[in-house]
Amino acid sequence: MRRVTKVYHVLVVLTMFVFVKSDVLTREFYEDERDALIPFRDSMKSGLNLHGNWTGPPCRNNLSRWVGIACTNSHITRLTLESINLTGTLPAGFLQNVTFLSKLSFQNNLLTGNLPSLTNLMYLESVFLSGNGFSGPIPLDYINLPKLTALELQDNEITGTIPSFDQNSLTTFNVSYNQLSGPIPDTKVLERFSVGSYDHNSGLCGRPLDIQCPVSPPPDPSKHKKKALKVGIVVLIAVATAIIPFSVILLLFCCHKKNQVKEAKKEEHSNEGIEKKAGWSTEDPGRTVDLEFFDKQKPVFDLDELLRASAEVLGKGSLGTTYKATMESGAIVAVKRFKEMNSLSKKEFVQQMQLIGNLKHPNIVEMTSFYYSKDEKLVIHEFIQDGSLFELLHESRGIGRIPLNWTTRVEMMKDVAKGLIFLHESLSSQKVPHGNLKSTNILINFSGETAHAKLTDFGYFPLLASQKSKLAIGKCPEIMDGKKPTHKSDVYCFGVLLLEVITRKVPGDNHEDLSDWVRGVVNTDWSMDIFDLEILAEKEGHEEMLKMAKLALECTDIVPERRPKMTQILIRLEEIYDPKISIEVG
Ligand SMILES: *[C@@H]1O[C@H](CO)[C@@H](O)[C@H](O)[C@H]1NC(C)=O
Ligand SMILES: *[C@@H]1O[C@H](CO)[C@@H](O)[C@H](O)[C@H]1NC(C)=O
Ligand SMILES: *[C@@H]1O[C@H](CO)[C@@H](O)[C@H](O)[C@H]1NC(C)=O
Ligand SMILES: *[C@@H]1O[C@H](CO)[C@@H](O)[C@H](O)[C@H]1NC(C)=O
Ligand SMILES: *[C@@H]1O[C@H](CO)[C@@H](O)[C@H](O)[C@H]1NC(C)=O
Repeated sequence: MRRVTKVYHVLVVLTMFVFVKSDVLTREFYEDERDALIPFRDSMKSGLNLHGNWTGPPCRNNLSRWVGIACTNSHITRLTLESINLTGTLPAGFLQNVTFLSKLSFQNNLLTGNLPSLTNLMYLESVFLSGNGFSGPIPLDYINLPKLTALELQDNEITGTIPSFDQNSLTTFNVSYNQLSGPIPDTKVLERFSVGSYDHNSGLCGRPLDIQCPVSPPPDPSKHKKKALKVGIVVLIAVATAIIPFSVILLLFCCHKKNQVKEAKKEEHSNEGIEKKAGWSTEDPGRTVDLEFFDKQKPVFDLDELLRASAEVLGKGSLGTTYKATMESGAIVAVKRFKEMNSLSKKEFVQQMQLIGNLKHPNIVEMTSFYYSKDEKLVIHEFIQDGSLFELLHESRGIGRIPLNWTTRVEMMKDVAKGLIFLHESLSSQKVPHGNLKSTNILINFSGETAHAKLTDFGYFPLLASQKSKLAIGKCPEIMDGKKPTHKSDVYCFGVLLLEVITRKVPGDNHEDLSDWVRGVVNTDWSMDIFDLEILAEKEGHEEMLKMAKLALECTDIVPERRPKMTQILIRLEEIYDPKISIEVG
């Protein structure tokens, strides 16, 4: 008996030794780095037999076992595959985990598709992707590479504009022989390079090229919907479409100087006129109308500054257009400009804005200020950088899309529920506190991997009572039947949103009626195939997804009284969501 235990002990010690030893062996390279390159190896063709060569560990301390790779301290630090007829499109995000990469070169190959994303590659110094068939825009994340010294992208089919590179380290730069367009950004760094770095592009302009940029920057084909526009151009467009935006404010605060107003009208059709007008506003001491701020202690800007800001269209909705305004001070705000609210009295508007502008909660967007004139109503709120839930769910499909995982989606919906509970409590006397809940009105901020959702565009129902069909609640069964909205109408919208988040289908896409869409979704027999493939691919959480679907169906019940309250919904969400997973992620 004793002997048996002894043998057993020896065995344990032996296996421990083997275990420790193999652990040391695997420490010679980093699995995340190797795993990242496997999809690349298996999806690309080339003149080398990568499939045969890239096996086993890629690194042994400073030695590399894989062709085209260099290692330092067991990390992959260089990836150099030049002139080997490398063919195919790069797998999305495949370099994300090769954290210590300092040189990347695929020059003179046959690569097509988008340029690789280089997010997180903080040690990357040299990027040589010239002489391929890359198309699409230069990814914006390239301007965030802190150590980038050389970027060669010449001889491709790259489109879009040149991002504003301004890392001082950058000393070699070539984007010639592409199809880039728009102005060359006038950053100190980009000014360093000569014509040879930029020429042979279809639509580039500005220094050092000998081509002057037109006064209005040409539209950026890489970003649909988000055209960068100077306020002056916004004004021009508005004049052209006979809706008068910021220019009206200009006229307003010039109202004491009638002759200037006349002049302004005369010059409205020429671009210089508008720029001059914007200039006056700074000189005009007789201005009486200004923005109303909620935090009267510290107004961060005045109307002049706002008018001189450069504006970019963030989105056009049924209520109006939202702009991103970047002021000379660098401050950024979002400005919503209402359309067709001219019958609204100042008292009504101001009362409602003061009510909702004083609400503060982590899950609702903070209103900074608002502006009322007879023809112009603006709401200015904090700018949320990562866009809307709609964009995250439905835009940038295909290669390059970063999937929204299940955990993130549930966390966002919990944020939405918290924001709604707050609104339902703070505006409990209003018929429907939010009234316009939909994925375009949920704005997302990422801090690291964690997404925070904030609600926007709420509290407009009292201002729009006659046009309520423009709001998201306009699609609720009770509103369609001509009944009054209630807090439960928001709950219906929340249910639709839940369905959208788990299926990644656009509600009412293909001009379908939303309630038909909901009924269609409801009537399928809830097998797993209703869910978005992106979250289904995850191994965990299928049970929770089904529970979430059930909750969504309760929220979209045709009878408002049968829908749960927002407070109950949050409790259900917290029960459904297994906190074990969140610990794993965090
Ligand atoms: C990067 O590594 C992490 C952690 O191992 C993994 O979850 C993730 O899927 C990897 N990403 C890519 C693009 O390979
Ligand atoms: C690449 O392809 C061309 C044309 O097919 C061929 O001449 C050349 O030898 C190839 N190069 C390599 C490194 O395989
Ligand atoms: C891969 O190729 C390189 C260079 O040809 C060679 O030194 C290395 O041993 C090969 N590695 C494997 C795992 O076959
Ligand atoms: C690997 O190279 C780095 C940098 O050149 C050096 O600091 C390190 O000592 C080397 N490691 C080994 C095991 O040779
Ligand atoms: C940029 O690349 C083009 C095409 O390969 C080349 O002719 C030109 O000399 C390069 N310019 C600079 C400044 O390196």
